[in-house]
Amino acid sequence: MSQTARRGADHIPSRSDDGHAPSDQSLRIHRLVQTEINAGFADDVRRGLSAETKRLFPKYFYDALGSLLFDAICLLPEYYLTRAENEILERDADEIVASVHDGGPVTLLEMGSGSAIKTRLVIEALLKRQTRLLYVPVDISATALETSARVLLQSYPSLTVEAYASDYDTALRYMHDSAWREGRVLALFLGSNIGNFEEAEARAFLRSLRGVLRAGDALLLGADLKKDPAVLEAAYDDALGVTAAFNLNLLARINRELDADFDLRTFRHIASYDAQGGRVEAFIESDRPQRVNIGKLGLEVTFAAGERIHTENSHKYDLAQLSQLATGAGFTRARTWFDHAEQFSSNLFVAVEQADLIKP
Ligand code: TRP
Repeated sequence: MSQTARRGADHIPSRSDDGHAPSDQSLRIHRLVQTEINAGFADDVRRGLSAETKRLFPKYFYDALGSLLFDAICLLPEYYLTRAENEILERDADEIVASVHDGGPVTLLEMGSGSAIKTRLVIEALLKRQTRLLYVPVDISATALETSARVLLQSYPSLTVEAYASDYDTALRYMHDSAWREGRVLALFLGSNIGNFEEAEARAFLRSLRGVLRAGDALLLGADLKKDPAVLEAAYDDALGVTAAFNLNLLARINRELDADFDLRTFRHIASYDAQGGRVEAFIESDRPQRVNIGKLGLEVTFAAGERIHTENSHKYDLAQLSQLATGAGFTRARTWFDHAEQFSSNLFVAVEQADLIKP
């Protein structure tokens, strides 16, 4: 267990002036990697911007501003993913939950819970079948986690929230060694976040997740489907420029946290669909030759005109790939639900018996 993991849970006390505030017992936030996130950020920025092909990791999008910008993306007319997944959950959450429920309590785990707006639909379906619910959200953004947990506890007094402010690997390692569950587990990995991994990373992530589950537990995996490139490119490069702001916020974050002097007006957001690779690729492009100083790293970074920083891939799937993904990680794809336009898929992966031990 890492040193910071041993720091344990921060109790968030209830507010005595608010009759609806949750009790002390109903919300715990484990801040597993607070210090490592920052050390990791500096190291990753140094490595990513010193490389021949410059790159920055997508997990760093989600500081406080980035998390809010992402919530705004989810409201954009071009970004169909959130609406499509929401449509599925509104229509089918009862059915999804019914196929997991075994009569006993089900624990709800969520990787990358963010604002947890879609989660409400699953929580409500579960609370039709059980009187209490343990909800275990994991998110890199401590602010998003705390805000969403408080809002959920206001709505659902029978909820207990055991939250992990952490990257996925650290949380899964910690959970592997602790007694965090009650009964069967339904895990959520929504929003096609799986698409932000490369194929091998996706398999490794699902195998780690499988490592904290038992046979019969389930994973509801949201996956965006392959489609017309024009639709995909619009979803990742909207007319209002919110996605551009979200992407460029990475540079703004480096300015804020690492004392750098990126002039944001000289960089632009690029999103293009690579049909061969089945993925939308996002970049930040320098519109001129320039040098940027990153004070806290003592690093000067040189850009040629048109040079790009790769910030994210967003892979798109078909059902055969999703079945393969499940099988490769110790699950079977039991069922898939679609929105009316069949743009998006919600896949129920059921954990199968595993002979070999998977340690996250
Ligand atoms: N997980 C989201 C996705 O792949 C993240 C995202 C949305 C994103 N729009 C973006 C990342 C634009 C980078 C650039 O759909």
